[in-house]
Amino acid sequence: MTGRAPSKLILLGEHSVVYGQPAIAVPLRDPGAEAAVSRTDPSSPIELDLRDFGIRWTVGLKPVAEEIPPFAELIRLATTSLAGVPDRGWTLSIRSEVPIGCGLGSGAAVSAAAFKALAAEFKVPLPPQRLSDLVHRIEKIHHGRPSGIDNTVVATARPVLFRKGRAPEFLSPPPRPLTLVIGYTGMRHKTSEVVADVAAAHAAEPERYDALFAEIGDISERGAKAFSGGAFEELGRLMDRNQTLLEEMGVSSPELERLVAAARDAGALGAKLSGAGRGGCIAALARDPDSAQRLRESLLTSGAQLAVVTEALTGGAHPCGSS
Ligand code: MEV
Repeated sequence: MTGRAPSKLILLGEHSVVYGQPAIAVPLRDPGAEAAVSRTDPSSPIELDLRDFGIRWTVGLKPVAEEIPPFAELIRLATTSLAGVPDRGWTLSIRSEVPIGCGLGSGAAVSAAAFKALAAEFKVPLPPQRLSDLVHRIEKIHHGRPSGIDNTVVATARPVLFRKGRAPEFLSPPPRPLTLVIGYTGMRHKTSEVVADVAAAHAAEPERYDALFAEIGDISERGAKAFSGGAFEELGRLMDRNQTLLEEMGVSSPELERLVAAARDAGALGAKLSGAGRGGCIAALARDPDSAQRLRESLLTSGAQLAVVTEALTGGAHPCGSS
C-alpha cells in the first residue's frame, strides 16, 4: 500500500502564527511525498528505506544516524499509537520530491505519507485530525516549537486559516485555480533557528514585533476573504505587504529579495518569501498558467536553483490519499 501527501505553502502569516496570529496555508499539487509499505517475514525487524538520503535502516540493529531521530519517532508512534501496526515484519520506503529546509513542509509531507501508507496497509482508520496530531509530534523533533500549521495543511490537504491552539478554519475553494510559482534560493534554512532568532528579537523589542505580528494577522484575515472570493489581485497585494513586514522582522535575505523582485518584474500579482525565511523559497502568485511560465523563466535567470509552477489544492477531490 502507498500513501501520498502534498507539500504546503504559507501564503500569508509565517512567524506571526507562532505568536497566535492567523496565517493562511495551502497544500500544493506538486511537489509531494510518497511512502510504500511492503510486508516481510513476520519475525523480521522493521526496515526503513530512505532512498533520497541513500539510507536503509534496520530498526533496532543499526545506530541511529544524524537524520534519523524523526524517523525513529515515526516508527515508535506508528507501532504504539496505531493499533494494528505490528512492531516487526514490514519495510517502509519513502520518496520525496519536496526539497528539505526550503519552507515547503518536507518533514510533515514525509511523515504524513508514511502514516497514510501504514494505516492503509494495516487497515487502521486514520482520520485527518488524528494524522495531523501524529505528524505534529514529529514536527516537534524537526522544529522544536512548531505552530501546527504545517501538519494541519499537509494532513488535511485543504487550504486553511490557521490559529495556534484553535480548530482549523478551512477555506472555501476559490472560483478558479490559484497558480503559484515557487522559486528556491538553493539555500537550506533551519526553521528552529530562524524561529529562535525571531523570539530573541521579540523579547528585545516586544512592542515593535507585536505590531508587526498584528498587522500580518490582519493581512491573513483579509487574505482569507480574497482567496475564497477569487480576488487574486488583492491577494497579491497582501503578499507584497507581508513581504515588506517580513523584511522588517529580519527574516528575509538578499537572495530571497532578488527572486521576489524578479517575480514582480515578470508580472506576478504578488510575491513573498514563504516559510521560515533566511534562505528557502519564495512564492509568486501568477495571473494565469501562461504567465506562470514567464515567471518561472525569470526566476531561473535571476538565480533560482529550482522554479516550479504549481497549483494550490483547494479541497475538492482528494488527490493525495492512499491506495
Ligand atoms: C514554518 O513553516 C512556519 C513558521 O511560522 C514556523 C511555524 O509556524 O511553526 C516560521
